[in-house]
Amino acid sequence: MQRFEKTGCTTCHSGPAFNGVTAFPAALGVFRKFPTFTDSAYVKKYGLVADEGRYEATKRPEDRHMWRVPTLRNLGETAPYFHNGAVKTLDEAVRVMAKTQLNEDLGADEVHDIVAFLGALDGTFPKQAMPRLPPTPGNLLD
Ligand code: HEC
Repeated sequence: MQRFEKTGCTTCHSGPAFNGVTAFPAALGVFRKFPTFTDSAYVKKYGLVADEGRYEATKRPEDRHMWRVPTLRNLGETAPYFHNGAVKTLDEAVRVMAKTQLNEDLGADEVHDIVAFLGALDGTFPKQAMPRLPPTPGNLLD
């Protein structure tokens, strides 16, 4: 957790769900530019600028490459990562984020620590009973 914070991930991934939303009403969430540092090899490798993000919906120039800061809960169950699903593992997603958002090259132990912290944010979903409609009264075929 300390590594996650020291690296600067909480600049964007703050609050109870790590999605930047720290106050209600949550409304649309928080949008941030991604990738911020576009000269990284990851940008080309994973095609991170092909989709222009929020701009594609609003056509406002300031929305180019703006993406909603996603929650970091239950990441163990939601691979692949990013808007285009181009990154298959959490280790790689952490390296990509550090490089493209903070211009940091993380060492193996730093990636390991952050991934361990993210793993602690996985939980078990509560069992949900399927809702059922009450039977239709009478016999509709008569
Ligand atoms: C400048 C803001 C910013 C910073 C700093 C930042 N992120 Fe992100 N993060 C985002 C945005 C925006 C996205 C969504 C990108 C997308 O949709 O493609 C994202 C996506 C992610 C994802 C993928 C989630 C998913 O469900 O696909 C992970 C994992 C992640 N960030 C972890 C981190 C870690 C770890 C750090 C620190 C090394 C970090 N982020 C730093 C803004 C940021």
